[in-house]
Amino acid sequence: MEEKRQPMRNLYLIGFMGVGKSHFGRIVSDALNYQFFDTDHVIENNEETTISEIFKYQGEDYFRKLERDLIESGLPSEASVVACGGGLATQEGMMDTLKSKGVVIALFASKETILERTSRNKNRPLLDVDNPEERISQMMDERAPKYLGADASIATDGRVVSDIMHHIIRTYKTINKAKSS
Ligand code: S3P
Repeated sequence: MEEKRQPMRNLYLIGFMGVGKSHFGRIVSDALNYQFFDTDHVIENNEETTISEIFKYQGEDYFRKLERDLIESGLPSEASVVACGGGLATQEGMMDTLKSKGVVIALFASKETILERTSRNKNRPLLDVDNPEERISQMMDERAPKYLGADASIATDGRVVSDIMHHIIRTYKTINKAKSS
């Protein structure tokens, strides 16, 4: 018997800065033949400036509103993989919004991995502090319980890219199907 065609719900990748949302988002979107969006990049393009400048001149609240507006009405409603900025899903009500719009998968990495990855560039205003290690630790403790509210969570430390990619795709397909029944 032919298998029923599943709707192509969006896949939202969430999690802390530096867990690999954009990296995996891109390769998973290629594999699924979906469009790829990175909320930070879309916002930077729309606003014609950088995230750091938005934080500096308009403030974090303004940035958070741009994130919410983008999710609510600024992206295609299906066949997209969306790499969400690290704070997006932690905003009041956003996890439920994301889950109602598609499949939400949280990626996790250790604090050490995150520190190592995020120290490579300076475009993250929230980590532009004297002690980024302490800041990461503090923010992770606060945010991890929220990320765990996703449809599924996947740990990335010590695993090869293809293994993680297949894990994300498998999980997406299973949840996409479950949300249809
Ligand atoms: C943020 C994460 C960043 C970016 C902004 C705020 C956060 O995105 O949206 O600097 O609050 O965690 P990445 O998770 O893609 O680094």
